Amino acid sequence: MDFSVKTSAPARTRTACAIVPIYEGGRLGAAAQTFDQASGGAIRRLRSKGDFRGKLGESLLLTHPGNAVAAQRLLLIGCGKATNYGVKPYRAAVAAACTALATTRIKEAVSYLGFNGVDGLDTYYVARHLSEQVRTALYRFDEQKSDPAPKPPLIKVGLGVDKADQKPGQDGIRDGAAIATGMDLTRDLANRSANLCTPTHLAKVAVDLAKRHAKLSATVLNETQMKRLGMGAMLSVTAGSDQPARFIILNYQGDDKKASPVALIGKGITFDTGGISLKPPASMDEMKFDMGGAAGVLGAMAAIAELGPRLNLVVLVPTCENMPSGSATKPGDIVTSLSGKTIEVLNTDAEGRLILCDALTYAQQRFNPRCMIDVATLTGACVIALGHQYTGLFSNDDDLAGALDAAGGRAYDPAWRLPISEEFGESLKSNFADLANIGSREGGSSVAASFLEKFVEDTPWAHLDIAGTAWTSGKAKGSTGRPVPLLVDYLLGTRT
Ligand code: BES
Ligand code: MN
Ligand code: ZN
Repeated sequence: MDFSVKTSAPARTRTACAIVPIYEGGRLGAAAQTFDQASGGAIRRLRSKGDFRGKLGESLLLTHPGNAVAAQRLLLIGCGKATNYGVKPYRAAVAAACTALATTRIKEAVSYLGFNGVDGLDTYYVARHLSEQVRTALYRFDEQKSDPAPKPPLIKVGLGVDKADQKPGQDGIRDGAAIATGMDLTRDLANRSANLCTPTHLAKVAVDLAKRHAKLSATVLNETQMKRLGMGAMLSVTAGSDQPARFIILNYQGDDKKASPVALIGKGITFDTGGISLKPPASMDEMKFDMGGAAGVLGAMAAIAELGPRLNLVVLVPTCENMPSGSATKPGDIVTSLSGKTIEVLNTDAEGRLILCDALTYAQQRFNPRCMIDVATLTGACVIALGHQYTGLFSNDDDLAGALDAAGGRAYDPAWRLPISEEFGESLKSNFADLANIGSREGGSSVAASFLEKFVEDTPWAHLDIAGTAWTSGKAKGSTGRPVPLLVDYLLGTRT
């Protein structure tokens, strides 16, 4: 998709299709007024006849709007009440325009959906949400279908703005497109079936990504290397699987070598059966998304590599399957983590924390990061607590938590902070080892976060539980591409 900024007067901008926002009730916005006048009142006539109300998501295509309009067509998009026009309806309006255009043969359009302003957004974010939402609306995952539907024809989208807003407009569409590239990678990886999307596959994707960007380098550890290092917690999870485990390290150097990096760690369970503590069969197919954290941090890295900002970033992905078999870890088995702490595996379905704890230790030992953020589809309890809109945010550092919370808000990828405390940690006591991998069922997300915190030394750390936000169940089953927007917004804010 090719995005650009258009600063010429709306009625005089040549395009196959101008996308015009129409609010419900009240007066026409500045953009619609211009097109209405130039078209000799075409929009007002439609409104007065009641043929177009302006309800959010409504659309109507007008061809040949008249000689005073340089656009060949006007696509009217309902935007709801003008007083309610914030980021959510704005993005819904962009999506509605994409849906309407998908059934036409129009290849190129210019959007004025943000021309009158969007509540709470400056031009940079109006532009960024446009490019990101267009790409999101047009995303399809059909690589495993034998007869995929034809691709929508749209390949060029312009953003109509005033001349003074050209620079933030260009910055915004560039960053939004890079975020979309990252989200596409995240979605592809998470949607791809687990017989293809294995730990080996994730490693290959990381290595291929590194080949395409000069500032990126990749290292992949195999099981022998993990064993030599002492990653006993990680290895206990892969014990029942025939697929070899991998530990992926992707290094992005955009700043001085000695500048301490941000570390992102993604849970890469390519399929979670629960292991010997087997999950029930209903919806078990969705556990192919249990590498959503890995997909998210790889997507964030893809976006950063495309943008090339001045910062250092390391992405770590411990990845394996969680399978039952004769060689699988059993409830009650005690394993030694890379930190030296011993863990009693009371439930083999609480496997995410076992691969993450070794990755957290490794990140601190190797990279001395300025902060580390792990991303994981960690607990069903988080879905119960926060639903599908908010990612669970846990942290030992108020500044980091505040920065991530703010990034999620700006990126329309929100997180909500939940507590970690001594009480949750206390429930992880074991009679036989230093700690157990499960504790109280109540507050399960906080218990899991408290488990992870025991492996954090002095480093500012945050944990994002994306169990409810990484994918959608039901009819629209599939990956959402989250939390790439949050992560990239946060990372761009750490530029030096
Ligand atoms: N991958 C799951 C968490 C999950 C569940 C993500 C549902 C998305 C939707 C994780 O490995 C898991 O099984 N967690 C257990 C922990 C429990 C055994 C303490 C859970 O949430 O039930
Ligand atoms: Mn599990
Ligand atoms: Zn899991």
